[in-house]
Amino acid sequence: MSQPDFILAPSILSADFARLGEEVTDVIAAGADWVHFDVMDNHYVPNLTIGPMVCAAIRPCTDAPIDVHLMLEPVDRIVPDFAKAGANIITFHPEASAHVDRTLSLIRENGCQSGLVFNPATPLACMDYVMDKLDVVLLMSVNPGFGGQSFIPATFKKLAEARAKLDAYARETGRHIRLEVDGGVKTDNIAQIARAGADAFVAGSAIFGAGQADDPHRYDSIITAMRQRLAGKSAA
Ligand code: DX5
Ligand code: ZN
Repeated sequence: MSQPDFILAPSILSADFARLGEEVTDVIAAGADWVHFDVMDNHYVPNLTIGPMVCAAIRPCTDAPIDVHLMLEPVDRIVPDFAKAGANIITFHPEASAHVDRTLSLIRENGCQSGLVFNPATPLACMDYVMDKLDVVLLMSVNPGFGGQSFIPATFKKLAEARAKLDAYARETGRHIRLEVDGGVKTDNIAQIARAGADAFVAGSAIFGAGQADDPHRYDSIITAMRQRLAGKSAA
């Protein structure tokens, strides 16, 4: 599937769960690219959210890729369940899997794209030996567990380091791995985040906090504003 240069992935963590299908439909109609699906287990992270049944429930609402971000452990047992529920991309935190290489393979074997998620203090080194098994690298720009937190500025330097690794790999192999960022992404900082090297942007509270609840076009302005900032990323 061809994808735009910059991916906008609204996190449904901040959506209205009582109207989740409608939220997904409306945000994709507004021009978003992926549905970011945050899975928390009250063990790996101190919050509890949604699982494969909810993924299956929203699957018929859109053809857009569902980007499942697993903040749970163990990882392997739940991967086939999310694949069956219609996930397209599955990412997990290396700390949560005893065998990172094996888990990446398992995700691909289940027909999904695979990726690693790096917490703010987690070094990038463990991606070096599994590049061939990665479709996405996701850098957390907040500590995982909650929406609505502030972007951690050290992420800019880390994005540049990750971008250098992914560009070197693309030069060697011709294969492009997405560099996604998650946490505290807003209209005001998205261009700077793109300049640091990201090409996929998760935004929860910034998108789902916008507009009036009963307006089906409530997400048009925020998505358009983010796209405009990305298009002019060489400007402020
Ligand atoms: C945090 C989640 C994020 C969260 C982002 O653990 O992984 O996807 O929803 O929310 P905002 O954009 O509000 O920081
Ligand atoms: Zn997330």
